[in-house]
Amino acid sequence: MARWHGRTGRNRQEETHVTTAVSIPRTGGSGGHTAVAASARQVVKAYGSGETRVTALDRVDVDIARGQFTAIMGPSGSGKSTLMHCLAGLDTVTSGQIFIDSTEITGLKDKKLTRLRRDRIGFIFQAFNLLPTLSALENITLPMDIAGRKPDKEWLDRVVETVGLAGRLKHRPNQLSGGQQQRVAVARALAARPEIIFGDEPTGNLDSRAGAEVLGFLRRSVDELGQTIVMVTHDPVAASYADRVLYLADGRIVDEMHSPTADAVLERMKNFDARGRVS
Ligand SMILES: Nc1ncnc2c1ncn2[C@@H]1O[C@H](COP(=O)(O)OP(=O)(O)OP(=O)(O)O)[C@@H](O)[C@H]1O
Ligand SMILES: [Mg+2]
Repeated sequence: MARWHGRTGRNRQEETHVTTAVSIPRTGGSGGHTAVAASARQVVKAYGSGETRVTALDRVDVDIARGQFTAIMGPSGSGKSTLMHCLAGLDTVTSGQIFIDSTEITGLKDKKLTRLRRDRIGFIFQAFNLLPTLSALENITLPMDIAGRKPDKEWLDRVVETVGLAGRLKHRPNQLSGGQQQRVAVARALAARPEIIFGDEPTGNLDSRAGAEVLGFLRRSVDELGQTIVMVTHDPVAASYADRVLYLADGRIVDEMHSPTADAVLERMKNFDARGRVS
């Protein structure tokens, strides 16, 4: 676990390793768009209090570039899911600010936040969260049905075709393979055209072939549809599909890599294990 030593705490040297990941690269999938899709400013997230207090995020500054695929990596317990949940407005922060585009979501009242999540953010979770009694297509359009929005037919067709589900739309989840179910979950996230999609290990329980299919699709949705994606992963191969990898350790962003290859990511992880592990 990447917890820090109870009594000794962090030393100054560790402080100097902190990178603020707020420089937005100019390349990307959406024609040189450089805008920031989401950002965190000095975000602290602490759980518990007193002896049991855990600082899951420790003054995190990060910008997520629009039209890019960003991967978040780091040891177990380093704060990856917490960061993603805070960025997506699924969890509150202890202090600091989160922005989706130019909207500050920290401080939004429940109702507004719920609506913002529904209208502007897509989620892909490891458990696919498909409803077993609905067909693939019904599952894909469910969030829009709930929101009372009519799916844009052309867009929906494009998403369905891109995920390669055209021949499976009438099937129920239990009639689909794991990879196909996950692609339904991906299509569902994309169908509503959210500004940004968050995935917490979206390929974590797929075999490597199905995982590659889903990742290839996510990649294409960035390149061809201009989607913005943030994905937590442990897998260097999965991370290599991203444009940029952010590394978390002990609740801080300690490094980042652009245009990652699986080998380079693996190498970087080894370095962290050698110098960064505390347990
Ligand atoms: N609800 C909670 N209450 C108390 N502590 C929590 C809670 N959720 C997370 N933590 C702690 O916050 C830290 C970061 O957790 P987080 O789930 O973000 O890690 P992670 O990087 O996603 O790890 P993993 O790779 O295992 O999923 C951990 O030390 C964890 O124990
Ligand atoms: Mg996690």
